Amino acid sequence: MLYQTKIAGIGKYVPENVVTNDDLSKLMDTNDAWIQERTGIKERRHIKKDDGNSTAIMGVKAAKIALERANVSKDDIDLIIFATLSPDYYFPGCGVQVQEMLDIHTCPAIDVRNQCSGFIYGLSVADQFIKTGMYKNVLLIGSENHSGGLDMSTRGRGVSVIFGDGAGAAVLTRSNHIGEGILSTHLHSQGKHALELALEGPSTMHWVPEIIEDQKSGKVKDIPYYPYMNGQFVFKNAVQRFSEVINEGLQHNGLEISDIDMLIPHQANLRISQFIQKKFKLSDDQVYNNIERYGNTTAASIPIALTEAWEEGKIKSGDKVVLAAFGSGFTWGSAIINW
Ligand code: UT7
Repeated sequence: MLYQTKIAGIGKYVPENVVTNDDLSKLMDTNDAWIQERTGIKERRHIKKDDGNSTAIMGVKAAKIALERANVSKDDIDLIIFATLSPDYYFPGCGVQVQEMLDIHTCPAIDVRNQCSGFIYGLSVADQFIKTGMYKNVLLIGSENHSGGLDMSTRGRGVSVIFGDGAGAAVLTRSNHIGEGILSTHLHSQGKHALELALEGPSTMHWVPEIIEDQKSGKVKDIPYYPYMNGQFVFKNAVQRFSEVINEGLQHNGLEISDIDMLIPHQANLRISQFIQKKFKLSDDQVYNNIERYGNTTAASIPIALTEAWEEGKIKSGDKVVLAAFGSGFTWGSAIINW
C-alpha cells in the first residue's frame, strides 16, 4: 500500500543579531539603495561568535518547535534529514549532531547537499520513505550559517550582502488519506553550471596547505575559499527554471495556476519572486516573501517562509501550497502540497 506524507508541524529559528544594509556599508563599498533595489533585502541575521549558535544548533532549535507543533515525540522519529551547504564540520554531517542533541534513539540520519534546493530535495527523500511505508515520522531540517564564511570586503560585495543565517524544520508524518499532504515533488540538476555558484575550497581540489602556499607566493588571483556567484547568469537561469518546475508540478496534478493558494519561492532575490508572480499573474496574497528581513538563507529559506506564512494564518487546511527553489548545482525543484 502507498501512503501519503503530510506536514504535521513546522518551526523556525533565526539568530537575534540583525545586520542592516547600513551595517554592511561600514565594512565594504555598498549602500542600502543598491541592495534594496537589486535584491529587496533590508536586513539579515548573522550568528555572533559568542551567541552559542551553529548550523546544527539552529536546526535543533527549529526542530524542537516543529516537533511540539506536530505533537510528535522525538522518540517516534524514524529518520532525520538535514539540508545545508554550511555544516558545522566537513564531516560528519549535521544530521548525526541533531540526533545526539535531541537525544533521539539510534536512527538513520541523511545529509542533503543541494544548496538552495536542499529543503525540497529533502522533502522528496522523506516523501519516498513515508509513501512506501518504510518510515512513519521524518524530521527534516534546513539550516545555514553563512555569515562566518563570507568575504566582507568590497571584493565580496556581490555575494556577501545577499546571504543570511537561520533554520527551518518540518515534521513529516504518514497519512492514510489519499490526496492529503505532499501531492508531488519534482527535482532537477544540471552540473555543467556547477562553478557558476560555488565555494571551491578548502576541499580535496584545494587543500588548506595548498591555499596557504599559493597565498604566500601570490599565485592565487581569486581566493577559492569564499563563495563565487555569476549573478546575472544565475538570475537568468533561476527565472526560467522556477517557471518550468512550477508548471511541471501543476500539470502533474492536473492543477491550474488559479488553483494555487500560496506560492513559497526560495528567497533568492525579491526581483526573481516578483518576476514569477507577474508571469503567473498571482496576487500579493498568493506569494509569500520575507527576503527583506532575512536575505537568502539557502536551505533554510523555504521552511522559514513556510513557517511564517503559516503562523500569520496565510496557509489554511486544504490550501494548495506550491514550493519552488533554484540554486547552486544548478539544482531546482518544486513540491505541491494539499495542506
Ligand atoms: O539562491 C541561489 C540563487 N541565487 C540567485 O538567484 C541570485 C541571482 N542573481 C542576483 O540576484 C543578482 O545578479 C545580484 C543581486 C547578485 C546582483 O545584481 P545585478 O543587478 O545582477 O548586479 P551586477 O552583478 O550586474 O552588478 C552591477 C554593478 C557592478 O558595478 P559595475 O561593474 O556596473 O560598475 C557591481 O560591481 O553593481 C556592483 N555591485 C555592487 N554595488 C554596490 C555588485 N554588488 C554590489 C553591492 N553594492 N553589494
